[in-house]
Amino acid sequence: MKLQVTARRALTSEIEEFTLSSLDKTVLPIAEPGAHISITTPSGARRRYSLVHPGNDLNSYTVAIKLEQASRGGSKSMHELASIGTILDVDTPDNEFPLGDKHPALLIAGGIGITPIFSMAQKLSAEGRDFRVIYCSREENLAAYVNEMKELCGEKLTLHFSQELGNTQFDFWDLLMSPTKEHVYCCGPNGLMEEIKGVTGHWPEGHIHFEEFQPVDVIRDDDKSFTVVLNKSGDEIKIPSDRTILEGLRDSGYNFPSSCENGSCGTCKCQVIDGEVDHRDIVLMNDEKDSTIMLCVSRAKGERLVLDL
Ligand code: FES
Repeated sequence: MKLQVTARRALTSEIEEFTLSSLDKTVLPIAEPGAHISITTPSGARRRYSLVHPGNDLNSYTVAIKLEQASRGGSKSMHELASIGTILDVDTPDNEFPLGDKHPALLIAGGIGITPIFSMAQKLSAEGRDFRVIYCSREENLAAYVNEMKELCGEKLTLHFSQELGNTQFDFWDLLMSPTKEHVYCCGPNGLMEEIKGVTGHWPEGHIHFEEFQPVDVIRDDDKSFTVVLNKSGDEIKIPSDRTILEGLRDSGYNFPSSCENGSCGTCKCQVIDGEVDHRDIVLMNDEKDSTIMLCVSRAKGERLVLDL
């Protein structure tokens, strides 16, 4: 889909909200609570962002994007280059973090992880369902949608701003020690999700749900350019130091299937015929690493990689 930026506003000093609208005001595909869209950002990097509002008759989607400090791609280019009028390529929503339709829910958000949690809270509230929310952030002024969450959730919302509480972290063991009938939905930094995994091992199977993706930036400062050889055509593509293989292929007109673009889903797996790979994904098994590469994050250790493309 082609969607146009029709509004943007600063939610905090680091987080911008973008409204993306259909060009002809048509109704967009359903945005389920917990769903995300993949956006080809102005830099060409594709990134996944959770939808902030659920709905089945929307003609715009809303995303909130945090500027990642080390960003040389996705979030930086959205903040710097996506202005009102910019047209972006956007995939239809996908949902790997669906909200069940019956049980009571305990929603846990850390930082920018509030975006799918806010969407879920809107749905639960509209349906009059039983839910509560824990929203953690370092400081209140760095946290998006605090007022909206207060208004929506009232007493169901617990806010925890660690820096304002002498750097004490929320005590999740206290909260989750005794399993309840609730399903737990958690989105936030890896540390938070690891902690929730650690304290819910005794909960019934299928009751704990995570939004695993992180909008990571995969290029590092000391990365070098290299050449990718497409074995079937013999074409040679130069991959610049600040582009992934996937982006470099795209820049040269070659499209390759992808989804997460952070090395976690496995969609962009490709056979390697020659060359040594600098693996940066989290999906390949050790015994696959000699002969395969995830094109969205991994690079060449040397000057050339020959791929089965
Ligand atoms: S697109 Fe998901 S691992 Fe590359």
